[in-house]
Amino acid sequence: MTDQLTEFDATAAGTGANATKMFQVKTREATTVDHARVAAVAGDAFAALHKVIHQHRVTYAEYDALKSWLIRVGEDGEWPLFLDVFVEHVVEEVVNADRAGSKGSIEGPFYIPGAPSEVGSTTLPMRDDEPGTPLLFQGQVRGVDGAPLPGATVELWHADANGFYSRFAPGLPEWNLRGVVLADPEGRFAFRTVKPAPYQIPHDGATGQLIEAAGWHAWRPAHLHLKVFASGHHSVTTQLYFDGGDYNDSDIASAVKPDLIIAPTPRADGAGEEVTYDFVLDRF
Ligand code: DHB
Ligand code: FE
Repeated sequence: MTDQLTEFDATAAGTGANATKMFQVKTREATTVDHARVAAVAGDAFAALHKVIHQHRVTYAEYDALKSWLIRVGEDGEWPLFLDVFVEHVVEEVVNADRAGSKGSIEGPFYIPGAPSEVGSTTLPMRDDEPGTPLLFQGQVRGVDGAPLPGATVELWHADANGFYSRFAPGLPEWNLRGVVLADPEGRFAFRTVKPAPYQIPHDGATGQLIEAAGWHAWRPAHLHLKVFASGHHSVTTQLYFDGGDYNDSDIASAVKPDLIIAPTPRADGAGEEVTYDFVLDRF
C-alpha cells in the first residue's frame, strides 16, 4: 500500500503539468495576427539573441545544451513557471506603465478563478491544523479620485506556511488559502488567513537545472497574490510582500516593488497579526 501524497511530495513536473493545464483553459483576449508587429517583435527578439551569441562566443556544445534544455522544459510542462519567473515582470511593467493607481506585479502561474466568495469579509478556506501566524488583511478599494468603490471584488490567493499552493502541490484541499471578498458599501474588505512562507520555485526540473547551473537561488520572498476588480475601472493584479522578509531583495522573479511591502503588526487581542492596505483603481 502506498501512502497518500502530501504537499512535500510536490515535483517540478507535477506542478508544471498542473500549471500548463490551467494556462491552457485560461481565457485571453483574442488577438488578430498583425504581420508587421510579429515581424518587428520576433525579428528584434532574434537579433537580441544573435547579439548574445556573438558577445559570449557561444559554442556548439552550448547550443546543443540549450536545445536539450528547451525540450526538457516542454516535456515537464514548465513553460508557465519558467516564463512567469524570468519574463512576466517586464510585460507587467510595460502594460501598467501609465497607471496612476495601485502598483501591479506579476500574476504568476498559480491563479485559479472561481474561489469561494463572501460579502465584506471572509476567512480563507484552510485546514483545521493550518500552520502559520494568523493574519487579518483588510482595506478599502477606491478610485483615483478617492471615491470608495462599493462594487469592487478582491481576490486573494497565496502559498501556505510551508511554501506550497493548493491545486499545484498534492494533498491540499481544493481551495486552500484562496478566496474572494465582494467589498461592502464603503468599498471595504477583510480576509482572515495565515502568513505565507517564502516560496522555492520547483527546482527538481529544467528550471531548477538552469538555476543551479548558474549558481543562483530558487527563492521568491513570502507574498500574497491579489486581483482587484471594479466595473468601469482597470483591474489590478499584484502581490504584497512582508517588511524585512527573506529574499525581498533577491526575488528570483524580480517582482518586488517598494510600494508593495506591508508591515503587519501584532493584534491587541494576541490573535496573530493585522495589516491594512488600500487599493486605488484607474478608470477606463
Ligand atoms: C512562480 C511561483 C509563484 O508563486 C509566483 O508568484 C511566480 C512564479 C513559479 O514557480 O514560476
Ligand atoms: Fe506566488
